[in-house]
Amino acid sequence: MVDTHTHILPALDDGAQSMEQSLQMVRIAVKDGIRQMIATPHVIGGLYENKKEDILTAVAQLNTRLQEEGIPLTILPGAEYRLEPDLAQRLKGGELLTLNESGRYLLVELPDTFLPDFTADVLYQIQLAGVTPIIAHPERNIVLSQEPAQLAAFIGRGMAIQVTTGSVRGRFGQQAQKTSRHLIKEGLVHIVASDAHSPSGRTPRLEVTRQLISELYGPETSRILLQDNPRRICQGQELINPPPVQQSFWNQLRKVWTRKKA
Ligand SMILES: [Fe+2]
Repeated sequence: MVDTHTHILPALDDGAQSMEQSLQMVRIAVKDGIRQMIATPHVIGGLYENKKEDILTAVAQLNTRLQEEGIPLTILPGAEYRLEPDLAQRLKGGELLTLNESGRYLLVELPDTFLPDFTADVLYQIQLAGVTPIIAHPERNIVLSQEPAQLAAFIGRGMAIQVTTGSVRGRFGQQAQKTSRHLIKEGLVHIVASDAHSPSGRTPRLEVTRQLISELYGPETSRILLQDNPRRICQGQELINPPPVQQSFWNQLRKVWTRKKA
C-alpha cells in the first residue's frame, strides 16, 4: 500500500521530531503492509516555511538511511500546503512540490474552524495552472463537515478529496466520523491516508481502516480509496471516482453491527 499523507520527515513540522522517530514510524508502516509513503510536511506561512529544496533534501536523507537499515520502504516527495491567497502564484512560480513531483496533484489543507473567502478562487487558480487540488481531511473543517454540498461542488469542478483514517475510526470526534463516513458512502472521497504524525497516537497505519471500509462499504470502495487511487497519485494518473455505495438490507444490517464493533 501507499500512504499519500504523512508527516514522516524529521523536525520539519509537528510530525516526527528526530530521525529516530521517523525510523520508528517507518517500521510501523512496513509492518502494516505499506511500501511507499509520500512525505507531506506542513507548509504554513509564519509557522512552517518549508522550502521545496529542503523537503527534497530531507526525503533523500531519509531514503539513504532506510537503505542503510535495509528497510523495504521508499519515501516520495510532497507537501501539505495551507490554503493561502498567494498559493496559486507560488505554484506557477515553481516554488511548490506536487505529490511525488508528478506535476499533477497538490495537497491543500484548509483551516479547521472556518472557510476563507478566497477558498474557491485559489483552488480554481490552481486548476487553471494545470494541477488538481486534493483537499486534505475536509471532514475536520467545521463548515464543510456541516455542508457537504459545498464539497460536492468542489468535486464537480474536478477537485479530489482525501479523508484521514483516524476520522473514519472516530479519533477526531463524532462529527468528523459521521462526515467522513457519509462522504465515503456518497462516493465523494478519492483517497484515504493516515496523516501520521508520530510513532504513537497518529501512526502510519492503513490496514485496520482498509478492513473497516471494506466491511462497511464493500471491497471495491476500499480498494479504490486505499490502493488504486494512492498508486495513481504517485504515478500522476487520473483518479477513479468511486461510485456511491449501494446498500442491500443485509449490507446495512452488517454495517450497523460493524459500527458497534468499531
Ligand atoms: Fe497533515
